[in-house]
This record gives sequence, C-alpha cells and structure tokens, in this order.
Amino acid sequence: MKYTVIIPAAGMGSRMHMDYNKVFIRLGDTPIIRMTVEKFEADPDCEAIHLAGRKAEMDTLWEMLQGCTKVKGIHEGGRERQHSIHNVLRAIEPADYVFVHDGARPFVSQHTLDDLKASVEMHQAVICGVKPKDTLKRISGDEVEETIDRASVIAVHTPQAFQYDLLMRAYQNAAEKNLSVTDDSMMVEALGKRVHVTASTYDNIKITTEEDLKVAESIMKKGSE
Ligand code: CTP
Ligand code: MG
Repeated sequence: MKYTVIIPAAGMGSRMHMDYNKVFIRLGDTPIIRMTVEKFEADPDCEAIHLAGRKAEMDTLWEMLQGCTKVKGIHEGGRERQHSIHNVLRAIEPADYVFVHDGARPFVSQHTLDDLKASVEMHQAVICGVKPKDTLKRISGDEVEETIDRASVIAVHTPQAFQYDLLMRAYQNAAEKNLSVTDDSMMVEALGKRVHVTASTYDNIKITTEEDLKVAESIMKKGSE
C-alpha cells in the first residue's frame, strides 16, 4: 500500500508560552517539525508529505525541511486544526490512503506506522492509541459518578489512517454540519462508520507544554520506542 500524509503545523503553540510556534523548537539540533517529517521520509510506503503552515511561517518551514524530498506542498492553515487539515485535503491529489499526523509528535514509531497500514487496508479508518495507566473516573462537578473500566478506553494519538474517499466525505459532512471535533476519526464516526484501533507507544507524545520538552529530551536520550 502507498499513502500520503497530512501534517498540520499551523498552530500557535500557545500552551508552550514561547513567542514562536512550538514545532520550530529544536530537540538537540533538529526542529520538532523536521523530526516528525523525517519519520515519514523514512517509511518507504509514504509517497507524499503535505503540511499545513501559517502564512507568515511558510519560508521558515521550507527552510527547516530542506532536503526532505517527499514534501510536496505546504498549504495555508485555518483557524482550528480541523480547518488546517481540510485546506490540505482540498489541495492534494487524490491518493488511495491518507494519514493525518500532528506536527508536534516527533516520536511515532515505524512499528505504529506498519500496524496502521495493515489495518487501514482492511478497515478504511484506523486510529492508534495507548492504554491509560491511571484509574479513570467519570465525574460531575467535584463528585465521582463512576469508575470507568480501563480495559474499555484508550488515549488516542496520531497518526490516524483513512481511505481517501472516506476522509473527504467525512470532512465535507463536518463542514456542512459545522461539527467541531478534536480528532479526525470523530468525523468518520459522525458518518456512522466504524473506526478501528491499533497500538501506539507511550513515547508518541504530543509536545504541548514546557514539561513535555523535558520528557522529549529523555525519550531522545534513551531512544524512542
Ligand atoms: N494545528 C494546525 N492548525 C491549527 C491548530 C493546530 O495545523 N489552527 C496543528 C499544530 O501545529 C500541531 C497540531 O495541529 O502540530 C496539534 O495541535 P496542538 O498540539 O493543539 O498545537 P497548537 O494548536 O499549536 O498548540 P496550542 O493548542 O497550545 O495553541
Ligand atoms: Mg491547539
């Protein structure tokens, strides 16, 4: 199978409290966004990489991604992550499969990509995630309503993998109905389609706050899984 990946990088990184986009932060010598893109440069089944970027940051992005030969386009992002991805989806050539992966997740493993590829060929829509390590409770205000069976939940990561036509339909439907979502598979769920699940790794964190930079450093030191 071959796929195209969409990497949204058009956020503000506001929870990082820096005066620039967090995907430009260097871990060691390499900007986060380049580390993320390199994961897909290294996967032989990934044919094309398309990013969403902020208008004022296009040149910086191209510069940081010099030599990444699969990067075919950087498209202007939108107000929310979902708008950024929709802009890219509308701009790219149709492909059999599309992966969507946060620019701020530089530690995705090849194994996770391989599992997603195998699964999306069978199931058309696949997400990956990890089992929560903490006990989970549903609350109302400051009171516990119930303890959630941990075996029945996952913490969801990206990449998420889709058949191209299905993802296009899901995004069109979401735009028409003005749905606000927190991940791409929610749009597929809104079409009444089943979404499958494969395993991610605990190292596949989304770099969101300053503490995550320390975690990222330690993942780099030990080598990511
Ligand atoms: N993203 C995007 N377009 C937006 C918002 C987010 O392309 N309008 C991207 C971010 O660049 C990031 C990914 O979506 O790679 C995941 O979003 P998040 O971690 O929330 O990043 P930011 O929105 O940049 O951070 P924050 O929410 O703290 O401002
Ligand atoms: Mg955000």
